[in-house]
Amino acid sequence: VIGQTARADAIVQSDIRTMSIECERLGGINMAQGVCDTEVPAPVRQAAHAAIEEGFNSYTRYDGLAELRHAIARMLKTEYGIAADPESEVVVSAGSTGAFYCAALALLEPGDQVVLFEPYYGYHRNTLLAVGAEPVYVRTVPPDWTFAIGELERAIGPRTRAVMINTPANPSGKVFSRDELEAIAEVAARRDLIVFTDEIYDRFLYDGRRHLSPAALAGLAERTVMMSGFSKTFSITGWRIGFAVCRADWARPIGYYNDLVYVCAPAPLQIGVARGLAALPPSYYEGLAAEYLAKRNQVCQALAAAGLPPHIPQGAYYVLAEASRLPGPGSHERAMFLLRASGVATVPGRAFYHDTAGDALLRFCFAKPQHELDEACRRLRALA
Ligand SMILES: Cc1ncc(COP(=O)(O)O)c(C=O)c1O
Repeated sequence: VIGQTARADAIVQSDIRTMSIECERLGGINMAQGVCDTEVPAPVRQAAHAAIEEGFNSYTRYDGLAELRHAIARMLKTEYGIAADPESEVVVSAGSTGAFYCAALALLEPGDQVVLFEPYYGYHRNTLLAVGAEPVYVRTVPPDWTFAIGELERAIGPRTRAVMINTPANPSGKVFSRDELEAIAEVAARRDLIVFTDEIYDRFLYDGRRHLSPAALAGLAERTVMMSGFSKTFSITGWRIGFAVCRADWARPIGYYNDLVYVCAPAPLQIGVARGLAALPPSYYEGLAAEYLAKRNQVCQALAAAGLPPHIPQGAYYVLAEASRLPGPGSHERAMFLLRASGVATVPGRAFYHDTAGDALLRFCFAKPQHELDEACRRLRALA
């Protein structure tokens, strides 16, 4: 029967999308999906309009338009001290999701193991599975989502090829400290591992924390594939503009796979992002972090009042909350109970663990317009 392949069987609708659909059916407030429906900055929007009129409507080079590759390289130098050659070490792709898929196709063999810190972001796991790689897990534990370096050592075997660092992390909000990154760097060098990074939330850090890009650490640039994008920073999740930065001999096959799978990221939208990067002052990014800090505090206070103790995130825009007081047995039942009782949709904690460790957790996304967040918090407080 058509469709009955192992690959067709392996791909299922993500829990996040399932909850979004349930939420719409019940007319609830969707705190499940990381849809950042705040306003797109004017310079980004206007430059994309102008680019269509100017004729940026054809295929671009396989690794993206020069204007965007150069803007990304300039941003990485200024913000994080990373030197990347925009002509050979930057690949623009269909979001950071596209960048990771192409990097996995280019750099991993079937059967290679890749370490994910748990709780993990589901797309990381599923992308690895899609290319025949095998995720292995290192647990991080609250309150600060720390891990024992011995656990990382134990997770690494002869087939381990890479480790993924998502900082700030979805769903925990963990921001990896310099000490942690240096410890991982030492292990990666000794065991000759690739370091994939997902830094899509680099502009969402709280309480005075600053983003540290792993590739900026001594000795790490050569083995790092840094991935990020503009979905979150510019509220353009539907534009699909992201990138990978790494050494040229890796960037070339990653770019060729980008050409094969996506051909290129949308041309006028590449220009919108490039010109937005050039035009937006530091105050834009500071304002963004301040807005999300206020939203984080608001939702954490409401969760505490609702009897769902939050693990206060250090970055990104999600909160994992302890929901053991809601009827179980698992996180799916708890999420459905909350949706029916309060009209607030969340993601079951199970989506972020390979075992039952997330059964009492729910993830709340606070990337919401203020009036929706106010209403969600009112409903949560009413639960108490
Ligand atoms: C950790 C992480 N990486 C990547 C993405 C998706 O990024 P993009 O839109 O650039 O593909 C998300 C979106 O939720 C995310 O949480």
